[in-house]
Amino acid sequence: MARPESTPHMPPIEIPALKDYSPGALDGFFGEILALFDQDASAATTVETVEELRIRWIGRKQGLLTRISEVLKGAPPEARREVGIRFNALKSAIEPRCDPEQLKATAPVTDAIDITLPGTRRALGAEHPLVRTMHEIVSVFRNLGYSVEEGPVIETDYYNFEALNFPPNHPARDTQDTLFIAGQESKPQRDRLLLRTHTSPVQIRTMEKMKPPLRIVIPGKVHRNDAPDATHSPIFHQVEGLAVDTDVTFSDLKGTLDHAMKALFGSSVKTRFYPSFFPFTEPSADVQISCIFCGGKGYRDGNRCPNCKSSGWIELLGCGMVDPNVFGFVDYDSTKVSGFAFGMGVERIAILKYGVDDIQLFYQGDVRFLEQFL
Ligand code: DAH
Repeated sequence: MARPESTPHMPPIEIPALKDYSPGALDGFFGEILALFDQDASAATTVETVEELRIRWIGRKQGLLTRISEVLKGAPPEARREVGIRFNALKSAIEPRCDPEQLKATAPVTDAIDITLPGTRRALGAEHPLVRTMHEIVSVFRNLGYSVEEGPVIETDYYNFEALNFPPNHPARDTQDTLFIAGQESKPQRDRLLLRTHTSPVQIRTMEKMKPPLRIVIPGKVHRNDAPDATHSPIFHQVEGLAVDTDVTFSDLKGTLDHAMKALFGSSVKTRFYPSFFPFTEPSADVQISCIFCGGKGYRDGNRCPNCKSSGWIELLGCGMVDPNVFGFVDYDSTKVSGFAFGMGVERIAILKYGVDDIQLFYQGDVRFLEQFL
């Protein structure tokens, strides 16, 4: 029988003898060949020796498979089918293992990994600047003994407006500002769903389930029907606060917010309370802080300060003493308790703290912007 050339690394192979073409004899013949191949292939562990294996077994001219097919040509017609099936199975078992690519999949681990190389580092994630600012605000109040409450973003007209003492035709209920959920017309007005326009409804939800005294902060997402631009977004965030106890006064409100603003913007910041109006507080005030860009002077480097329009003050949040009508909605006795509330925009505070000039940057998910907050 023909003896193929031996290769530099592999001894010559002798094709086994085939006694007859019965299925049993064929199985034995092909089994022996496969065993020979296995033995040969186990020595092929480099690109070079796999190439030798390929030439030796499936090389077009001298390859063992070619020689085996020649031997099998002598098969009688009735055995051809059985021979063909076995030959094809042998071929498909051998061919893929003669491809140097398979070395990559089966190579021993020590060859594939150089453990002296530095590891693959995953970039550390960071808190989103809005989440970070929200946490910062919340922690200022937690340090004062406030606890955190949350409520639903999809709210009813009752919690968002009615129980907060918004009169039935208050302009804030207008579709200009509020995003209403469609198809609510068959419900009574107070049950109709909308996207909450502020975090204040959680004041009501909390007072319904907790008796005074209470001190809570409420971080959360809110929506208004505003077209997005550099200073507006239909989705934004607020942190609300509420303190109710006996003898809570406007001085407590002033002292608390003055402390909070100093904690957030630095101890040199001053606060000023400016008369305002909110349906759920009486009296109400807007809190202004001394301009953090010009130090409250109104001028910077001899020029008018653009950030405070040279007024020296920046308006930051709303607040006031809880209106007794609100206590009426939650069964608190307004002759025994009093309270103050406040609400601030998280974006607005983050914009001031970090000098961001476009609110949209917070929502675009651009890593080049976000990684500055690592
Ligand atoms: N809810 C108000 C708004 O979104 C902010 C606000 C003002 C909240 C005064 C309060 C408050 O709790 O007392 O504009």
